[in-house]
Amino acid sequence: TIPLFPTVASYREWRRKAYDEKKSVGFVPTMGALHEGHLSLVRRSLAENDLTVMSIFVNPAQFAPHEDLATYPRTLPRDLELLAALSVNTPAGPRSAAAVFVPSVQEMYPSGITQSIAEQKGTFVEVKGYSHQMEGKTRPTFFRGVATVVLKLFNIIEPTRAYFGQKDIQQALLLRRLTRDLLLSHPEPQNLIIAPTARDPTTSLALSSRNAYLSPDERNDAALALYRALQAAKSAWEEGMPKVDCVARAAGVIEQKKHGLGDAVDLRLDYVEMNDPETFDVLPEGVSRTQWAVDVADRPVILSGAMWVGKTRLIDNIVLGAW
Ligand code: PAJ
Repeated sequence: TIPLFPTVASYREWRRKAYDEKKSVGFVPTMGALHEGHLSLVRRSLAENDLTVMSIFVNPAQFAPHEDLATYPRTLPRDLELLAALSVNTPAGPRSAAAVFVPSVQEMYPSGITQSIAEQKGTFVEVKGYSHQMEGKTRPTFFRGVATVVLKLFNIIEPTRAYFGQKDIQQALLLRRLTRDLLLSHPEPQNLIIAPTARDPTTSLALSSRNAYLSPDERNDAALALYRALQAAKSAWEEGMPKVDCVARAAGVIEQKKHGLGDAVDLRLDYVEMNDPETFDVLPEGVSRTQWAVDVADRPVILSGAMWVGKTRLIDNIVLGAW
């Protein structure tokens, strides 16, 4: 079984030994309810580091008062089984996860944490200018919570490399910027690794802990509209259509699915947007692929979206162009 560390002090003792032994430490932060997406990050870390640490912590600071903090799936015993069963063959022999950090809320927030930002006391981190677009538009306090907890986790774990999923692309890029802006050494910015989105092999639905909220019908039908919508926008972009039409095409796919479903499922588009991966600026309505390539010398474009299936909010994205 994998050693579990519930406190910062106990983990730090383990980390000191890893330093003494000059071992590299890969880190996969999660909120648990593990699925193949999380496990794909662990596999990558096992392949690239002597030791791999996962954290499992449902971070209150990244949930708004009306969001699903209370009902977020918590499946620790199963998570630990999945992790223990995972091993990767490397030239140095088989490797599996070496430690799991499972702190309490008190351990992570010594000054306490309230769901009301106005009443909150203590230290929080903001990545200004990068937290209000895409996901931040409808979840304005989300990235403050993410940046704060991940900086704390980096300070505790002191990873050589840290692994994040493209599934949450804005989160990963924003955290890479945080490592640069705050001059972190653990991890160094280039060692914040963004790994591809793991999808259901038959439906292409992006794996997510929140998929557990969906009924089988929703999961195998309604929920697929988001990725299909992004694919439709991608084709439009590749055909040379301006952004405004690409986004409209995506919205149309979801609208059509909604009509097809009738009253059975409440399908609702939150947003579909196209953004610059460096600045997160929204692309101008009229820009097309050829124009974009001229303007920004072939930078890729983030095509992302969020959609409600009943009370469940799903997100997905595709990167357009070389990435
Ligand atoms: P969580 O949603 O548990 O995701 C943990 C990590 O797994 C993130 O880097 C996320 O992008 C990645 N991930 C999730 N689904 C994935 C998929 N289908 N394919 C590839 N990677 C996937 O993201 C968080 O937790 C939290 O915000 C956290 C960073 C832990 C801070 O609290």
